[in-house]
Amino acid sequence: MDHKVAIVSEKITFEVQEDESIVDGALRKGIGLPYSCRNGQCGTCKAKVQKGTWKYLHDFSPDILTRFEIDQGMVVLCKAAPLEALQIEFDHPLEERIEPRVLKAKIEQIEPVASDVIHLTLRLPEGESLPFRPGHYVDFLLEENHRRSFSLASLPSQDSTLEFHIRKIPGGYFSERLFTDFQTGDEIRFEGPLGSFRLNDRTTRPMIFVAGGTGFAPIKPMLERILVNRKTEPVWFYWGVRNPDSLYMDELVKQWENQYEGFHYIPVVSEPDKKWMGKTGPVHNVVVHNHSNLSGFDMYMAGPPAMINAARTVFLAHRLMEDRLFCDTFLPGYSLPEKTKNLLVSRIRRIFQM
Ligand SMILES: Cc1cc2nc3c(=O)[nH]c(=O)nc-3n(C[C@H](O)[C@H](O)[C@H](O)COP(=O)(O)OP(=O)(O)OC[C@H]3O[C@@H](n4cnc5c(N)ncnc54)[C@H](O)[C@@H]3O)c2cc1C
Ligand code: FES
Repeated sequence: MDHKVAIVSEKITFEVQEDESIVDGALRKGIGLPYSCRNGQCGTCKAKVQKGTWKYLHDFSPDILTRFEIDQGMVVLCKAAPLEALQIEFDHPLEERIEPRVLKAKIEQIEPVASDVIHLTLRLPEGESLPFRPGHYVDFLLEENHRRSFSLASLPSQDSTLEFHIRKIPGGYFSERLFTDFQTGDEIRFEGPLGSFRLNDRTTRPMIFVAGGTGFAPIKPMLERILVNRKTEPVWFYWGVRNPDSLYMDELVKQWENQYEGFHYIPVVSEPDKKWMGKTGPVHNVVVHNHSNLSGFDMYMAGPPAMINAARTVFLAHRLMEDRLFCDTFLPGYSLPEKTKNLLVSRIRRIFQM
């Protein structure tokens, strides 16, 4: 059975089935609700249900919501299905959506840039292009319905190439094979662009960017955009890694620092060798050591869940406003549930007329 879901602040209405999530129902209709993990873990999709009843799917427990948020009527929309007509309110305007598509691309370059990081360049077929915004990611569509998310690390370009920075996860279904099996010319299928991690273009506040390891991937095009547009607000970029070898684009960022006034680069190593002369420790500790009051900043973070969670707690305790914190949490991949798989398969069939 379908139920009407209205986003009151945007005057948008769409139908959602009783056993699908509100985010999936909106995506099916081409409506861009904010989301990232689609798995109840990142909190990007939370919003207030003003009116109507709903249920969480698959016994989901909303641990990412505070008691206060639950009392306010906040709901994790990627895990909630309607039981009757709903009215939902977001506390920020929804972004203009770029419709995700399923595409094939060939590996143009596959280059190890650190002992555990690959720089991957894909080339789209002749005449094909992928519009996206800095901060977007794609899902690589692998065998047996496995999907793995990777951030687009380049700016949208004229020459149809896409850049990715991929960390090798020990035992990882995709990333381990990327180091051994994949070669130039191999084809990869993906769906994108996805996600709602993006620059807040309306701000004039100083900005801090924090990356953990390959968390630099979505942050790189954001910084490139800011530096090319020569925004006047000061920008700090803190890059936290385990050892100096993992600062795989250190030279490029140093070049930006020399080139652009107001851009500050602080690499931070948590397990330094004897040669390392820079900052050490958890990256968030160095950030709050340098900026003890974060109330006047916009903060962008990307990287593994443990780093994001630890940093979020510390930054909020140092007076960062919650609505000025933008996160891209690198959650582990997953396999598609059968229902979503079928939807995707029919979409792929439509696109490739199979
Ligand atoms: C929106 C988004 C963007 C992302 N962008 C990037 C990117 O640009 N570069 C990049 O390197 N990664 C990125 N990731 C993370 C990446 O998708 C996952 O690490 C993915 O699981 C790797 O696939 P795999 O097949 O190699 O490992 P898997 O087979 O998925 O994982 C093997 C094991 O490692 C665990 N694991 C995997 N990733 C993590 C993690 N991050 N933290 C803790 N445990 C983990 C899994 O639970 C599993 O037990 C992104 C994730 C998301 C959600
Ligand atoms: S919690 Fe819903 S998109 Fe991540």
